[in-house]
Amino acid sequence: MSDRRIRISPSILAADFTRLGDEIARVAEAGADMIHIDVMDGHFVPNLTMGPFIVQAVRRVTDLPIDVHLMITDPEKYAPAFVSAGATYVAFHREAAAEPRRVIEHIRRARGKPGLALNPQNPAESIEPYLEMLDLVVVMTVNPGFAGQGFMAGVMSKVKQIAEWKRRQSLEFLIQVDGGINRSTAPVAAASGADILVAASAIFRADAPGQELKAIRQAAESALA
Ligand code: DX5
Ligand code: ZN
Repeated sequence: MSDRRIRISPSILAADFTRLGDEIARVAEAGADMIHIDVMDGHFVPNLTMGPFIVQAVRRVTDLPIDVHLMITDPEKYAPAFVSAGATYVAFHREAAAEPRRVIEHIRRARGKPGLALNPQNPAESIEPYLEMLDLVVVMTVNPGFAGQGFMAGVMSKVKQIAEWKRRQSLEFLIQVDGGINRSTAPVAAASGADILVAASAIFRADAPGQELKAIRQAAESALA
């Protein structure tokens, strides 16, 4: 029996932006633990999405923690602006920052919770030196850039490795698995050590997003029982 609690973080990347407030209210009502906002700059990934302005708008419609996932070059320059806009967690990609420690400190100083994100092909070792400074580790199970891609099950060994370091060193950061999460993939992510599951299309493109969120949580929890 595990005492790990699974948190669900719906990613608004697949929400209907003409009615974003309602979309967020719907998942909050269904028990979402946080809201995931995917920030893309057209350089680090081949897509452009949202800036601090959207984070401000989301902050006005919910009290849930907001986790911002920066898929941008130069996170040092922009990360603090996302904290000021209302983000709770701000995660950036290790390879996007020349000096990750500095970015982590900037986020902390702005009173945000820092996180590091890992692309599927990047080894866990690349973030190991920073683990004790972090509140969040985002392990990507799709290539960053788009919602609606297939879950890469091969990444689970990395989740297990990070969960093992966390346990051995008694660290507090949360492990988030991001990409391709749905009712079928949630159990393996949870069993591998995920604390937070991100889902965009599985939730927002479902006929009943609230029910889908609950089904994903239930599937994940069944793997911990
Ligand atoms: C991908 C983003 C993910 C994405 C997940 O670059 O980081 O957060 O929104 O989308 P789904 O759940 O549809 O794979
Ligand atoms: Zn994301």
